[in-house]
Amino acid sequence: MIRITSILFSVFCLTLTAQAEHIAITTPKTALVIHTQKGAMPQVLYYGARLSATDEAQIDVMSGYRQSVYPVYGLNSQGECALEVTHGDGSLATSLVLQSMETRHEENANITVLHLKDRVQPFFVDLYYKAYQAVDMIETWTEIRNDEKKPADLHQYASAYLPVRRGNVWLSTLYGSWANEGRVCEEPLQPGMKVITNRDGTRNSHTAHAELMLSLDGKPQENNGRVIGAALCYSGNYRLRIDTDDSDYHHLLMGICETGATYHLKKGETFRTPVVALTYSDEGLGGASRNFHKWGRKYRLMHGDKERKILLNSWEGVYFNITEEGMHQMMDDIAMMGGELFVMDDGWFGSKYQRNSDDAALGDWQTDTHKLPNGISALCDYAAKKGIKFGIWIEPEMTNTTSELYEQHPDWVLKAPGYEPERGRGGTQLVLDLANPKVQDFAFEVVDKLMTENPDIDYIKWDANMGIQNHGSQYLPKGEQSHTYIEYHRGFEKVCQRIREKYPDLTIQACASGGARANWGVLPWFDEFWVSDDTDALQRVYMQWGTSYFFPAIAMGSHIASSPNHQTFRTIPLKFRIDVAMSGRLGMEIQPKNMTEEEKTQAKKAIAEYKEIRPVVQFGDLYRLHSPYEKDGVASLMYVTETKDEAVFYWWKTETFCNQHLPRIRMAGLNPDRMYTIHELNRIDNKPLPFEGKQLSGRYLMDNGLEIPYTHNVDYNKLNAWSSRVLRLTAK
Ligand code: GLA
Repeated sequence: MIRITSILFSVFCLTLTAQAEHIAITTPKTALVIHTQKGAMPQVLYYGARLSATDEAQIDVMSGYRQSVYPVYGLNSQGECALEVTHGDGSLATSLVLQSMETRHEENANITVLHLKDRVQPFFVDLYYKAYQAVDMIETWTEIRNDEKKPADLHQYASAYLPVRRGNVWLSTLYGSWANEGRVCEEPLQPGMKVITNRDGTRNSHTAHAELMLSLDGKPQENNGRVIGAALCYSGNYRLRIDTDDSDYHHLLMGICETGATYHLKKGETFRTPVVALTYSDEGLGGASRNFHKWGRKYRLMHGDKERKILLNSWEGVYFNITEEGMHQMMDDIAMMGGELFVMDDGWFGSKYQRNSDDAALGDWQTDTHKLPNGISALCDYAAKKGIKFGIWIEPEMTNTTSELYEQHPDWVLKAPGYEPERGRGGTQLVLDLANPKVQDFAFEVVDKLMTENPDIDYIKWDANMGIQNHGSQYLPKGEQSHTYIEYHRGFEKVCQRIREKYPDLTIQACASGGARANWGVLPWFDEFWVSDDTDALQRVYMQWGTSYFFPAIAMGSHIASSPNHQTFRTIPLKFRIDVAMSGRLGMEIQPKNMTEEEKTQAKKAIAEYKEIRPVVQFGDLYRLHSPYEKDGVASLMYVTETKDEAVFYWWKTETFCNQHLPRIRMAGLNPDRMYTIHELNRIDNKPLPFEGKQLSGRYLMDNGLEIPYTHNVDYNKLNAWSSRVLRLTAK
């Protein structure tokens, strides 16, 4: 007999009978239904749109799913497993069954816990589901506890497993490398195993990303079709597996990458996996993205409800050539253009060894008084005088072999016992061993000392420019070397937590050789991430497009850089560079003294206009309209406020040929029944666009779209191959 348990969300334990039951873990529009029976492994019955009571009542009979909620290795386990253990007595088999369930209500979410136990060993697994009640997101994670006499070795310990019904299922994921992050890859799932992994050690979103989307109705579409989105929220190595075996299912498993990381779970110890954030939408990739953005801004991103300041960062302007005069000049310029924050990048520190290139002084966080005779506080004062805030670059997880820190504490670096360490950036960089509490204290104190001495510092750019190239902790005992990656990230989280407890208002950017820390695992402590060291506006259209699959514009540092660009050497006019940067968290990465007066005026105007649309970009719903990856010569997206009162539309030409035919772009996300006044921002044309100031219905804009001229109407000497538009839409 099947009985339905409707979960009443107060703190209580559900008593289980031996009867089969099921539970529905729900968000406003989604449901995950799990079949439960005491003494048996729970099974996933359904994940998708929220069900009516009648449909849910019959789901046990209707569903073909019946896959273990957390497949384990040992008995009848020919497929991929979430958990593989060598128990204290040497046994390799695990067989988990449900003992009890628990549900409770937290402020924003309902939490369900399935308590499982091995049939033979005192070995326990708790599966957690945190279902948000205002956004469509379920966070799920696993806690593994060993009560056996001896330690148990965890060889596999995934955060979560989800069966996905086969059909024409497509995978969308992000790949890339330094200066080419966040590229979109779309492919149909085929028999065999698809593995997405990162083993950098410290950072994890160069190469690939720990998030994915599965389009269940064939080739991914932006605004149609059913999509499952999943993000592993973790700062370290990961492994995402999709096994397509001979069953009706694709088997999705997400978690820490266990290579080199067998975990010895002591008696009484609990191992908690990172969270997987799971969403479902029937509004295509765009719907899933909007779910990630809303959840992120509301519950996960540091200060997700606060507008970000418009900044100038010194890196591409002066690189390591920091001087007090130079910093003053940059502050003068950004203040004059209407910016709100100046960030002094690498090159400001070092005492015995100067930081004039990337090969020395990391770890020696004393101000270089040759460069800055009056110290940081004088720079903060100067910024205050100019009416702007001051920010600073640090890289607290690292050192150089040429540094006082390394001379004093050679035992603080990650190092394989008996081997000369492999060195990273500049031929001298090494990663500090954050497993070591003394190193954690040191990293915390880098921030604490800066903030204590200069309480006006408003922003920190926290960089991490090396992966773990030396597997070995000088702190961890010999028998726990395989915990190195895990303990590093536990240490990193502890440091972040301490910093946030003491400095809750500070803005902190996660930078890691550009965009290698774009992951929801770091964003509870960081306000944003640097998308890429590549500031080329055209390439940014592609990279920011991909990154927006999982991350909101408010978190994506997007800067106006110089032309020719320092990475691609492409020459792009300021208008296009502005129009791209304005679609994320706007900033500048340029030497303003090399800009013409006309360019400075243009930038000043853009900054003023960005301030007007900032809430729409930073808090609005994203609608991606036309992908640059379609190679149709144009890319377009827009942001719409939740009330649909305001929107900002972006249109970028991605290639230019004579007499080419570009698709007309239909808008999305507007209220069809409201009238919107159109106003072009950052206008450079001699004549306004034909629809400037006109009122058009949301219906027309979405059904038809506007004819955007392919070129700009400018004087002959200003004609060039580039074209872009930003339109502001305001509802009557
Ligand atoms: C990394 C960052 C850059 C810059 C340099 C400084 O590469 O990604 O933005 O801060 O370090 O050395």
